Amino acid sequence: MSQLTGEKIALQLQTPGRCRMHYQILVKGEVIGEVELDHIAWRSGEAELKIHIFDPAKRRRGFGSDAVTTLLEHAFGTMNLRRVYLRVHATNTAAVRCYEKAGFKKEGKLKRSFGGERKEEVLLMAVSRQHFSKEKPARAV
Ligand SMILES: CC(C)(COP(=O)(O)OP(=O)(O)OC[C@H]1O[C@@H](n2cnc3c(N)ncnc32)[C@H](O)[C@@H]1OP(=O)(O)O)[C@@H](O)C(=O)NCCC(=O)NCCS
Repeated sequence: MSQLTGEKIALQLQTPGRCRMHYQILVKGEVIGEVELDHIAWRSGEAELKIHIFDPAKRRRGFGSDAVTTLLEHAFGTMNLRRVYLRVHATNTAAVRCYEKAGFKKEGKLKRSFGGERKEEVLLMAVSRQHFSKEKPARAV
């Protein structure tokens, strides 16, 4: 499907590939960001989600949550994936909240050290088809 429709946004497929589906996020015809499923593993039914809303002025209006939910509906309902996961910096509270709203749960923590004092924590988050369907009865597959 080349176009997916959410409540506030539409997703336009840019790069259809066996291992990667990359969409532009549109609001009233304007491209405001991108969202994708990468590393699609058909055998295990898993993929990694990434999202970016370009202009900070377009954030905090519900577009990110809508884009993530719309893509998850497609991932579980049409592509028949089993689990979608992602990595996010622990300090990125906006993204963590956005993902939690869409049903993602924290599964683990990776610690990266750059030598000296500099360290960063990356959270691994995931949502299963079963969990998504249960949590999102109104719009889920
Ligand atoms: C992460 C991102 C996609 C979220 O999109 P968004 O459109 O701003 O998110 P939403 O408006 O749907 O908000 C989702 C939730 O996060 C909360 N939120 C958003 N920005 C926030 C912030 N800066 N601080 C705290 N909470 C925030 C919202 O309040 C909302 O929760 P609520 O409904 O309980 O109030 C967007 O901020 C972004 O593109 N950031 C830069 C790129 C990035 O960090 N990508 C993720 C990499 S893993």
